Amino acid sequence: MARKKIALIGAGQIGGTLAHLAAMKELGDVVIFDIVEDMPAGKALDLSQSAPVDGYDADLKGANDYKDIEGADVVIVTAGVPRKPGMSRDDLLGINLKVMKSVGEGIAKYAPNSFVICITNPLDAMVWALQKFSGLPTNKVCGMAGVLDSARFQHFLAQEFNVSVKDVNAFVLGGHGDTMVPLTRYSTVAGIPVPDLVKMGWSTNEKIDSIVQRTRDGGAEIVGLLKTGSAYYAPATSAIAMAESYLKDQKRLLPCAAYLTGEYGVSEMYVGVPTIIGENGIERIVEVDLQGEEKTGFDHSVSAVEGLVTACKGIDGSLA
Ligand code: APR
Repeated sequence: MARKKIALIGAGQIGGTLAHLAAMKELGDVVIFDIVEDMPAGKALDLSQSAPVDGYDADLKGANDYKDIEGADVVIVTAGVPRKPGMSRDDLLGINLKVMKSVGEGIAKYAPNSFVICITNPLDAMVWALQKFSGLPTNKVCGMAGVLDSARFQHFLAQEFNVSVKDVNAFVLGGHGDTMVPLTRYSTVAGIPVPDLVKMGWSTNEKIDSIVQRTRDGGAEIVGLLKTGSAYYAPATSAIAMAESYLKDQKRLLPCAAYLTGEYGVSEMYVGVPTIIGENGIERIVEVDLQGEEKTGFDHSVSAVEGLVTACKGIDGSLA
């Protein structure tokens, strides 16, 4: 059986980490595409030379021509610019929208049957534009945000409770921005909901509130420390989990930016919700019950995404 093919559009910080993880996990052969000449070939060669040490079988190739992504099973998009300190994800809109147009056309031409995972920010608007520009079915185009946002929440909760991250499950919904909605009620330590742990004296509501806020600001905290770019290890790991669930038909329940057609009262937009990812892409949108502040927070997040989508339509008339 031929190996699967994974195409990475953008060979920067996240792209390079994605290539390393995909190869080490032997998910398939990897093509790394970028507009910068030769650089992806350099990364591919460097990574290929780590294979004999770790003993994994994967062909890695750099590319400057979309033809090389032909027949890819999975395409992960990080092309564009990351933010610098003081910038919000939304500040990237104009530049990255143009990038999505060329990437979408490349995917439509050479990998129309692939499962596409977008990482480029501002995520919910960029994945919406990428689906439009590529014309691929909506169940085959999604955005990576929820797995990362939930992982950040899980990490902070594990630290607070002094337990293994393996036993912490957490849920973050909404757009990948300051309005994201970490759901404490659906977050647990080995099945015990966070509000119950507070009642048991493991933490306080004030501490949990500050963890929720730190999760919302999780990306900005890292941008502030790195100073020259944004996070890349955890974003890459999160996208690989989604790609693996598709390639191996694992049917994992993963929160991601998915196209909604009425679920959660939202239509024709991409927003972060729990989904099942399997061999058919986004196979199911999981509609959990939202109450009170959860519902208000989610609706607020949806209107923030709506604003960005309207801005995209204003910049590129073909999207209107
Ligand atoms: N086509 C292909 N690649 C492009 C294009 C394009 N039109 N424009 C830019 N690129 C490439 C750049 O040359 C660079 O190598 O995209 C790569 C982006 O890499 P980095 O600058 O290192 O950014 P990274 O940290 O990987 O983040 C990429 O993901 O999380 C988001 O906000 C982040 O939007 C950013 C994206």
